[in-house]
Amino acid sequence: MTSLLFTPLQLGPLAAPNRIAVAPMCQYSAIDGVPQPWHRQHLGALAVSGAGVVIAEATAVVPEGRITHGCTGLWHDGQERAWAELVRDMKAVGPGLVGIQLAHAGRKASSQRPWEGGAPIPAGAAEKPWQTFSATATPHADGWHRPEQLDSGAIKALADAFAASARRAERAGFDVVELHAAHGYLLHQFFSPLSNTRTDSYGGSLEKRMRAPLEIAAALRGAWPRDRVLGARISGSDWAEGGATPDDAVVLARELKALGYDWVCVSSGALAQSKVQVSPGYQVPFAAKVKREAGILTRAVGMIASPRQAEDILRAGDADQIALARAFIDDPRWPWRAAEALGDPAPVPPPCLRGRPATWPGAALLKS
Ligand SMILES: Cc1cc2nc3c(=O)[nH]c(=O)nc-3n(C[C@H](O)[C@H](O)[C@H](O)COP(=O)(O)O)c2cc1C
Repeated sequence: MTSLLFTPLQLGPLAAPNRIAVAPMCQYSAIDGVPQPWHRQHLGALAVSGAGVVIAEATAVVPEGRITHGCTGLWHDGQERAWAELVRDMKAVGPGLVGIQLAHAGRKASSQRPWEGGAPIPAGAAEKPWQTFSATATPHADGWHRPEQLDSGAIKALADAFAASARRAERAGFDVVELHAAHGYLLHQFFSPLSNTRTDSYGGSLEKRMRAPLEIAAALRGAWPRDRVLGARISGSDWAEGGATPDDAVVLARELKALGYDWVCVSSGALAQSKVQVSPGYQVPFAAKVKREAGILTRAVGMIASPRQAEDILRAGDADQIALARAFIDDPRWPWRAAEALGDPAPVPPPCLRGRPATWPGAALLKS
């Protein structure tokens, strides 16, 4: 092994064969929250990629927590059965750990699939809108559904729902659960002072804004076995005046570590007010700060696309693991090329070996 990217990574109780993670990516292609043939092909290809960890998309713990009608869920037996088959197949074809992101979209729920416009579902649409929920009754932005404010009983019920989904994820065979606490969805809605203006014990100070996310995180920790991996995706910055800051992310990461979380993935933005300045590796400084100051295993994500860029982030000590999303859509064999670029053996499964151009008789002729 010459690169850090292809060095195994101990993630709490389990080891990943390398430091590449496939970031969760909604496919908006489920029916009644049940993954479909599309998911089998999509996640199967990502398992074959040889990535150390593959995380399946944001999966709602209750029906009203879905972003769209096409989002996956894990609240009923049919979903659990379909996920179990998918996990079994992914493990049969790939070397990596298989994970799922558990989520609740809060006030960003009940929207159209991106290719339908991504707007809130209008009243009278064939696929019906539903009542959304959030930290307050304020909509995500103008024209969005008005959510219902969750009271303490409803927050407790939600924590139970996350725990119930974790038990289903365990039975389905997942190695990793990732709690979604970023991207302007429900947990982030509680965390950010821009979306949480409550004046009770669930809003105000950072400690109070973290209360609901941490109650949910604790319930999840209680339900998920200690011999499997548990992490969270948090928000490194709201990119907005008066919003949550990288210092707030450090405090949240410390609390998650104290609860027994194995790692955090540091993303950012996605509130209506966020003015994200995108550039290659733009979220890496947040991951580096969290790693340094919270002392938890950290995954960097966001506009990381080349093997050398990923390797340099690891070598600088800015993160322990690198997640990619869009680069994997573009090239589901990304780790094969990354290994070749970094001088390591490519994680190619035996049935694919004859496809590697270097093994073709006459390959040199092809190149010329
Ligand atoms: C099609 C698509 C779906 C996504 N779905 C999710 C998701 O389910 N959960 C999540 O936390 N982030 C999701 N994201 C964000 C990615 O995980 C990732 O953080 C983001 O795309 C930045 O990484 P990249 O520059 O490597 O694409 C999605 C991104 C894309 C492109």
